[in-house]
Amino acid sequence: MGDLSGKVAIVTGAGRGLGREEAMQLARQGARVVINDIKLPGAEEAAQATVADIKAEGGEAIVVFGDCADSADSDNLFKTALDTYGDINIMVNNAGFCRDKTIFGMSDEEFDSVVRVHLRGHFVNMRNASKYWREKAKAGEEVYGRLISTSSEAAIFGSAGQPNYAAAKAGIVAMTMGAAQLMIKYGITCNVIMPRARTDMTNTGATAAMFAAPEDGFDAFNPENVAPLVGYLASPEAGNIAGEVFVVWGGRVNIVQRPSLDVFYDNPEGAKKWSVDGLHDSLSDYFNAEHTPVLDGFSVPPQ
Ligand SMILES: NC(=O)c1ccc[n+]([C@@H]2O[C@H](COP(=O)([O-])OP(=O)(O)OC[C@H]3O[C@@H](n4cnc5c(N)ncnc54)[C@H](O)[C@@H]3O)[C@@H](O)[C@H]2O)c1
Repeated sequence: MGDLSGKVAIVTGAGRGLGREEAMQLARQGARVVINDIKLPGAEEAAQATVADIKAEGGEAIVVFGDCADSADSDNLFKTALDTYGDINIMVNNAGFCRDKTIFGMSDEEFDSVVRVHLRGHFVNMRNASKYWREKAKAGEEVYGRLISTSSEAAIFGSAGQPNYAAAKAGIVAMTMGAAQLMIKYGITCNVIMPRARTDMTNTGATAAMFAAPEDGFDAFNPENVAPLVGYLASPEAGNIAGEVFVVWGGRVNIVQRPSLDVFYDNPEGAKKWSVDGLHDSLSDYFNAEHTPVLDGFSVPPQ
């Protein structure tokens, strides 16, 4: 089960945190892995360490530095993967960073940089992967393609201190759903994970305590716990799983239900445009004095 021998995987942001564990997992399942990270002090050494660790376990990996959200860097990532290993089968979009502020205090730069690295970072590599697989399929060649996106529960619940991040992560879900609908006819699957783990990203401020390692027992927020789901979604056995969203941490995988339409109201005056008064008359039934606004945010329930 889960054999990825002969397959080629790209993982962005694979120097540290979740990306590193996911790259190690894919290599352990037999994939040759292209490690991407940004060429900055710290990240550079970390990416090289991931490659060294995969090789030390007998796996195959190379590093291709570049900004995950830059099209030219993404083109270079794909070209190097193809030149080195001859194919691309698994694309894990994972890289990113946070610039946390409430909506009151966020600058344009803080908004743009976070939306860029996550949403555009997914877009440029998703475009290259889907183009490559589609062209191959159209040429009558056999195609094996698995695209895995990384969102966050911030996309479902909102995140009061991360409006930029929550917006980018919601965009990633919508974009991946669309890609899943287009690509399934070629046998390509596209899915989304929403992980929880203790990494550089969460090891600060309030989240540090939330994700702290226990003194003993199972370390639910070890990023290693997330990697097997990525390995499974990348595997031949997961060929009929597409367009799905998973929350994953510890020993739990939570399949996210699609948003669905709730109760509806038709204009009681017949098939015609609503008036403001008419809307109030009908909707105040639902939004009555007992109605509580939806304000609950992200929390970590005990496992
Ligand atoms: N840790 C969590 O609990 C959690 C929760 C929800 C979602 N996520 C998502 O998981 C993914 C991985 O996060 P993590 O927690 O491992 O964080 P992390 O900070 O440990 O790792 C992120 C990696 O991305 C790299 N990176 C940053 N900008 C880059 C760029 N422009 N190009 C290429 N690489 C870049 C970093 O150098 C780093 O190696 C992110 O998309 C994050 O939003 C994490």
